[in-house]
Amino acid sequence: MFQPRRPRRNRQSEAIRAHAQETRLHVSQLIYPMFLVDGKNIKSEVSSLPNNFRFSPDVLLQEIEECLNLGITTFDLFPAVDESLKDKYGSYSYAEENFYLHAIRAVKERFPEACIMTDVALDPYSSDGHDGVVENGIILNEETLPILAKMSVAQAQAGADIIGPSDMMDGRIGVIRRALDDAGFINTSIMSYAVKYASAFYGPFRDALNSAPKSGDKKGYQMNPANRREALIEAELDMQEGADYLMVKPALAYLDVIHELKQNFPLPIAAYNVSGECAMLYAAAQNGWLDYERAMPEMLLSMHRAGADVILTYFAKDYAKMVKAGKIKY
Ligand code: PBG
Repeated sequence: MFQPRRPRRNRQSEAIRAHAQETRLHVSQLIYPMFLVDGKNIKSEVSSLPNNFRFSPDVLLQEIEECLNLGITTFDLFPAVDESLKDKYGSYSYAEENFYLHAIRAVKERFPEACIMTDVALDPYSSDGHDGVVENGIILNEETLPILAKMSVAQAQAGADIIGPSDMMDGRIGVIRRALDDAGFINTSIMSYAVKYASAFYGPFRDALNSAPKSGDKKGYQMNPANRREALIEAELDMQEGADYLMVKPALAYLDVIHELKQNFPLPIAAYNVSGECAMLYAAAQNGWLDYERAMPEMLLSMHRAGADVILTYFAKDYAKMVKAGKIKY
């Protein structure tokens, strides 16, 4: 049989497979989400997200140092706030004494080279557990925007490099951009959670922060998982309003949406490999049903292949360790 085109030739050895490899995921493309809790000497594991912890600020510094040595450059920090500090308007989010803001400052003082991303939304600070102000079961858009702006400026003041609005209110990117600029933070970046779905995969994250909605759900502001074309509207608005990156969240069940954004927008595209996606793999691996060290990099590579330039993932540290050990080759 004459067979001039034999795809298997490009798979015949490790050297040739590396030549033919179309995508590579570098540790510098990963962002490591980490949970923070007030106090000292605390490292408490999130039960629904094994291998991930709530760190007190002192322990966080050690953890960041270790990660920097593994080549991780960027950290997305989330605060677990004591219930007694929560209110309807999330006012602790920009309070002078906010431990999260102090922790960001401490990290930047100790490791100026660490790129710090923050989260902007009311939910960890809200007595209602929603991303915006709630009135009679409705999430109020315009009333929420000034709070998001204040929170963003407070985080920029603390030293945040990238502000991450995850709240899905309309018009928030423009409002935040203007507030940052007015306060002199023209170089503070915004990574917009542009296309964020009302997903069931955020469960372990809400456990970690005890931030689940006290009533109702987030469908009035987060996107319907059935929709793809609508993502173009969200992304377009955020680009116009000044976002520096566009994020799709979750990632694994939304690879088509990542691809769609990559095709249509000339900004860096981020994907958030959310807590529930990671928890599924941890659970399967713990049961011996999947090989973690093979499935985990495959999952992350799929997001990169779909079009994600950067990936927020709880696997970041393990991925970096595997690279260091020579188990993942670029
Ligand atoms: C809060 C926020 C959420 C996540 C990031 N920021 C949860 C939510 O919207 O309920 C989820 C991250 C994850 O599941 O890993 N605005």
